Amino acid sequence: MPSPLIKWVGGKGGMLKHLKPLLPERWNVWHEPFVGAGGMLYGCSPAKARISDINWMLVNLHVQTRDCPSGLWRKALELGGWDGCDLEAFLERRAEFNRMLREGEKTLESAAMMLWVSRHAFNGLYRVNGRGEFNAPWNRNMARPLLRSEKDFLECSAVLQNAEILNVDFEEMLEPVQAGDFVFLDPPYVPDAVSGDFVSYDKGGFSREDHVRTAETARRLAERGAFVLATNNDSPWTRELYDGFHFHEYGTNSGIRAGRKRREVAMTNYRTKPLDSIGRFC
Ligand SMILES: C[S@@+](CC[C@H](N)C(=O)[O-])C[C@H]1O[C@@H](n2cnc3c(N)ncnc32)[C@H](O)[C@@H]1O
Repeated sequence: MPSPLIKWVGGKGGMLKHLKPLLPERWNVWHEPFVGAGGMLYGCSPAKARISDINWMLVNLHVQTRDCPSGLWRKALELGGWDGCDLEAFLERRAEFNRMLREGEKTLESAAMMLWVSRHAFNGLYRVNGRGEFNAPWNRNMARPLLRSEKDFLECSAVLQNAEILNVDFEEMLEPVQAGDFVFLDPPYVPDAVSGDFVSYDKGGFSREDHVRTAETARRLAERGAFVLATNNDSPWTRELYDGFHFHEYGTNSGIRAGRKRREVAMTNYRTKPLDSIGRFC
């Protein structure tokens, strides 16, 4: 099972043991409008998928991974592989990547650069400011190599072979969903007391109205006969938004604040087998 090539805020790669058991038994097409780095997608390898994200640079990474995995891997190696770098090299590459962002460069080079700058940034995370500039600081890592193999790139590419990859708002992306399809909705987090500050994926941000729009869309898709699985912080507002859905709570290893473990909740419009606290079927 491949894991995502890039680390992403809210990535669900580490949540598979909680989320995979919540999948319906079967479905036709897998639709994932907030695909991010693709933690669930890679973890579940659906036969036929439609994926999308509002972040065009990330979408370019998925397209290049699907169409040219070995070329992407080689370009990343040409940038110095995943070896550590000093501050000067990091700032130079970050400035070059921001030029690519400004100029809307959707190329193999910009995809490789996206991998490189995020790998060498603090916490290995991708983060942009309100002007859409990549602004994560250097990870101070001069030495530790972080190499991913060509095999990893090829495995990710294999999962994407039958995937349609889009770069549109989630509501538009979900228009073609039909009865019997599966929809995984993993929008940005609803802020809550524990998860606290929000890290931006894209200069647009995700407003309160967007969360309401997501829940309304989930209801419409459920009425259409699709299987809907949505996730978010386990907050009273999330439960209000998805009132009428089945709720499945799980803890996360991230976002531990003030001694409290952040809790997330998954919502389904269909019944699933009950799980115990560590995600096994009861
Ligand atoms: C919680 S992350 C998804 C993480 C993903 N499941 C993973 O495993 O990496 C939410 C994603 O929604 C995207 N997003 C934000 N607003 C959006 C919108 N209006 N339409 C589509 N995608 C959006 C962000 O760019 C981000 O990648």
